[in-house]
Amino acid sequence: MSESEASTECPVSSFNEWDPLEEVIVGAVDGARFPPWHASVGAPLSPEQRALFQERAGQPFPADRVAAARDELDQLVEILAGEGVRVRRPEPRDHGKSYGAPGWSSTGLYDAMPRDLLLVVGDDVIEAPMSWRSRHHAASAYRPLLKEYFLRGARWSSPPKPELPDELYVDGWTDQPEGEPFRSVITEFEPTFDAADFIRCGRDIFAQRSHVTNALGIEWVRRHVGDAYRVHEVTLADDHPMHIDASLMPLAPGKLLIHPDRVPEVPEIFKDWEVRTAPPPVIPGDHPLYMTSTWINMNVLMIDEERMVVEAQDEPMRRLAEDWGMAAIPCPFRNFNSFGGSFHCATVDVRRRGGLNSYF
Ligand code: ARG
Repeated sequence: MSESEASTECPVSSFNEWDPLEEVIVGAVDGARFPPWHASVGAPLSPEQRALFQERAGQPFPADRVAAARDELDQLVEILAGEGVRVRRPEPRDHGKSYGAPGWSSTGLYDAMPRDLLLVVGDDVIEAPMSWRSRHHAASAYRPLLKEYFLRGARWSSPPKPELPDELYVDGWTDQPEGEPFRSVITEFEPTFDAADFIRCGRDIFAQRSHVTNALGIEWVRRHVGDAYRVHEVTLADDHPMHIDASLMPLAPGKLLIHPDRVPEVPEIFKDWEVRTAPPPVIPGDHPLYMTSTWINMNVLMIDEERMVVEAQDEPMRRLAEDWGMAAIPCPFRNFNSFGGSFHCATVDVRRRGGLNSYF
């Protein structure tokens, strides 16, 4: 481990996924809607999910599902607060309002997954230039918090505002044939990325290209964070990539959790780390998952190197944590999972105690 810079009094300070969590934003599911149909929305989804998104385009998600997910988010908030973490929430919005730019218009999605949107690197909160038109104003619900952090001394950054014209999307896109390299639905028209395609290990940040993150987006982050960081692009074996945090999850220095199939070769840099594969998910096949695979089970949140928030019914993940020297903190979250994420997606760590280190 190399030098460490002491953490500051800045309200925003987080360099990795495991230092002791002091302040976190937990998303809100109220007002969640299926976005208007667009090829880029369908690309990361399974055929069944695509069909449902087409059928329900523009409609609210079922009210009973939203209520069940809201209840679980509230339980997560209680648990985190009980562990001594300061929890902040967005201001939920009406996602049925239409907005647009030259050439297109859209309604919104939800405010449930702050991890998708906000990339915290040290004292800098970066608003991702998201490629889904339905997420173009995703930051709004978080703006009151971002303004507060800025006033209190944090940096607040945003890449060039994406225009999201038709040229950003591959005309007539179809899935790559089985066994062929990943074919993204987005072009290199302009930089776009989702924050959840990045995962932070101090001076080393790992990123994947996906259906929402292009090479220009990764390059923008690389230049923005500068020489103190190394941004590594990793290629995973995910047929429908969108967000790295159900494939490659660093849990603590020297502990890497991976998806059993999506990481055929663990990047060389992790050679001194212990690598374990996520246990098979226990989410039943008939449980609605609108946007993800069942591997959302590995989307855990570390409160510190020794405390992991795990889904209450996920016995195998609880055992993995305990076998690996961590305490598992159970929280019911299966209903929230339906909306496309678990604890890591539903949160963004604003402050973790600790400084900028190298772990390799
Ligand atoms: N694409 C992943 C899967 O289907 C889910 C990633 C969710 N992550 C997130 N930050 N919303 O397994």
